[in-house]
Amino acid sequence: MKKVIKNGMIVTATDTYEADVCIENGVISLIGENLSTQDAEVIDASGCYVFPGGVDPHTHLEMPFGGTVSKDDFETGTIAAAYGGTTSIIDFCITKKGEPLQNSIDVWHAKSKDKAVIDYGFHLMIGEMNDRVLNELPSVIEEEGITSFKVFMAYKNVLQADDETLFETLIAAKELGALVMVHAENGDVIDYLVKKALADGNTDPIYHALTRPQEIEGEATGRAATFTGLADSQLYVVHVSCADAAKQIADARDKGIDVWGETCPQYLVLDQSYLERPNFEGAKYVWSPPLREKWNQDFLWNALRTGQLQTIGSDQCSFDFKGQKDLGKGDFSKIPNGGPMIEDRFSILFSEGVKKGRITLNQFVDIISTRAAKLFGLYPKKGTIAAGVDADIVIFDPTVERTISKEAHHMAVDYNAFEGMKVTGEPVSVLSRGEFVIRDKQFVGKVGSGEYLKRAKYGSTFKRESPLTT
Ligand code: URP
Ligand code: ZN
Ligand code: ZN
Ligand code: ZN
Repeated sequence: MKKVIKNGMIVTATDTYEADVCIENGVISLIGENLSTQDAEVIDASGCYVFPGGVDPHTHLEMPFGGTVSKDDFETGTIAAAYGGTTSIIDFCITKKGEPLQNSIDVWHAKSKDKAVIDYGFHLMIGEMNDRVLNELPSVIEEEGITSFKVFMAYKNVLQADDETLFETLIAAKELGALVMVHAENGDVIDYLVKKALADGNTDPIYHALTRPQEIEGEATGRAATFTGLADSQLYVVHVSCADAAKQIADARDKGIDVWGETCPQYLVLDQSYLERPNFEGAKYVWSPPLREKWNQDFLWNALRTGQLQTIGSDQCSFDFKGQKDLGKGDFSKIPNGGPMIEDRFSILFSEGVKKGRITLNQFVDIISTRAAKLFGLYPKKGTIAAGVDADIVIFDPTVERTISKEAHHMAVDYNAFEGMKVTGEPVSVLSRGEFVIRDKQFVGKVGSGEYLKRAKYGSTFKRESPLTT
């Protein structure tokens, strides 16, 4: 049935205006004043913003990691994402050295099919580069629509790739039209520091942060950016946590190198002292890169405001405190790395960013949705409100005040990293391709309704479908 959203304030990455939005067959068919509501369901958005749905370019759902598997899967994770205002995610497909890439892609399809409640795509991890991998990449792009490759510069002996692999991936990506993503930390130096800390009897969660200093995130970021310049390729640095790394991205961009940077809500509002919490509670805040000294937060906010960092990913990779984080009692290096962030990404950026005057409303939309859609080949199908695009829409009440807590969240884990934090603003209703997933703050979606997203090559966009089909 046709739907018309009335009385809301439409906000895109460039414009803010009052108008009605008509939705037909899953797409936005018309935007204008006083649209006819004949034969239509009317959705009243009085007092609310009408945002494009959030695009979260960084999730790890049901990911085997650290001797366990991240708790939120494509069902619970995407339900939580939808409650939080996100309507598309891109998850990391983890590959195994020596095995066909397609095997891992098939595993990821099996995990997500019939489970997701919002649309989803995959990035593909590249752990080694050789003729077999090179031969497979064209079909990864053309058949699977996977147009971004992820290289880990950390997690030695687990996910880490060497510099040769990174460089060759950058060269291949340039050729094929893909964006290379890096987890930028120097895994070799970390490995040395971790072994030394443990040998010295330093086993508490705080040593996770102390063995991953920001200098080596900066070093790895600069190294990856240098390789990108040499390869004349394109790079996206995930989860930038600190000033050292953000500066490297800004320097590379100044030189004209095509480098983009993502930060995460956790780095904007939490700091290293959380890892010192007693009774092993610090383990709740163990992820990589680690939380940093508080002064870095201002630096990251400024980088978002001035466009030196462009996106925000959740880096959702959730583990229960009891039963999973526990694995690292007595040895911080065995604490599974990751946290539950998918649900609160949108509201934290709005509340701490827009409400506190650090970014504008239009910048908010760009950072939470539009920019990622553009970089990852989803725009304008996703990432904006315009005639002819998917009706992925968040009706957002910017005035409601609430406290984030595990009692109220929808993620499958037993704690919330932002517990007790007061935020202003909340998604009221969320639509995915024109259907309600969240309606008046209740989940009304259908498990399995989320569609797999084949993405366009880096630098290209989708042709918009004409909405005037009837
Ligand atoms: O600690 C983290 N971030 N876990 C997920 C994997 C990664 O490095 O992004
Ligand atoms: Zn309908
Ligand atoms: Zn990472
Ligand atoms: Zn991650």
